[in-house]
Amino acid sequence: MTSDTAAPLIEFRGVYKAYDNGTKALTDVNLKINKGEFVFVVGASGAGKSTFIKLIIHEEKPNAGEIIVGDYKLSRLRRRQVPKLRRTMGIVFQDFRLIRNMTVFENVAFAMRVVGASKKDIRKRVFYALNIVGLNEKARNYPDELSGGEQQRVALARALVNNPSMIIADEPTGNVDPTMSYEIVDLLTEINKRGTTVIMVTHEHQLVRDFGHRVVMIENGMIVADNAGFAREDGEKAPITLETAVFDDVKNTADAESVPAPAGQADDEAALAIDSGFVLTEPQPTKEASDDETEEL
Ligand SMILES: Nc1ncnc2c1ncn2[C@@H]1O[C@H](COP(=O)(O)OP(=O)(O)OP(=O)(O)O)[C@@H](O)[C@H]1O
Ligand SMILES: [Mg+2]
Repeated sequence: MTSDTAAPLIEFRGVYKAYDNGTKALTDVNLKINKGEFVFVVGASGAGKSTFIKLIIHEEKPNAGEIIVGDYKLSRLRRRQVPKLRRTMGIVFQDFRLIRNMTVFENVAFAMRVVGASKKDIRKRVFYALNIVGLNEKARNYPDELSGGEQQRVALARALVNNPSMIIADEPTGNVDPTMSYEIVDLLTEINKRGTTVIMVTHEHQLVRDFGHRVVMIENGMIVADNAGFAREDGEKAPITLETAVFDDVKNTADAESVPAPAGQADDEAALAIDSGFVLTEPQPTKEASDDETEEL
């Protein structure tokens, strides 16, 4: 592990986000994600996961607090710097967002064209990216001719093609079958091993259990659990009990029926989770968000 690996790539400092209609989506979020980490973001529907992602990619702005992404302090980011920020990220959404009248090759190439890459580089990198996701042979096909899992792999190739320092994925496995979900997280794990930081929102409990990456849990806009520093230290998988404890708290999510929480085990599991290095934070009192609370670096 190099010293570079330990530098925070993303940092949230006292971040509050309320939407214009008054919905408080995030409350006093404090978090560091280091270079090279793989972080699952979990929590019930409406908890604030997508808001968290939208703040990282600067699609939404916080009402208070500071967000730092790589070299950028987002409160100071000028409009013309947004594309530069986004170039450091590969973004993957649940609904793939491929361009229907472009082939697989063109969809991936498009991400390079918009940043002004040469034809030669485009050809080389697009096939490299398609090869990683196992879709070289589908280069000439259109998105409608592919399965959901294949379409999502194209989206992943597109996210990868500009060699971003991080992949940000909001429920990338939400529209694909369980086998393909595993393949996608496997791929993301491989990409992560090559040094790319991965942040992935998911509802799939089994995936989180099986892959043993860091898990950040958001509930009512607050981070209520984070096993930072545990799963990633020695590269070993976190014990199953860790995630089981996490998911006792998300029984109400749409797909939670598939993982019934055994009655009476929650406390034991929470205790085990704490023993395992799981940090459980107390909910913070609600504070009114205001711009002048923004902290300096
Ligand atoms: N554009 C918006 N305007 C107003 N309220 C919003 C907006 N987007 C999200 N919200 C609200 O903010 C809260 C957090 O929403 P968010 O989309 O971050 O949840 P989520 O954890 O991603 O949920 P899901 O698992 O269903 O995708 C919810 O109460 C939601 O209704
Ligand atoms: Mg969401």
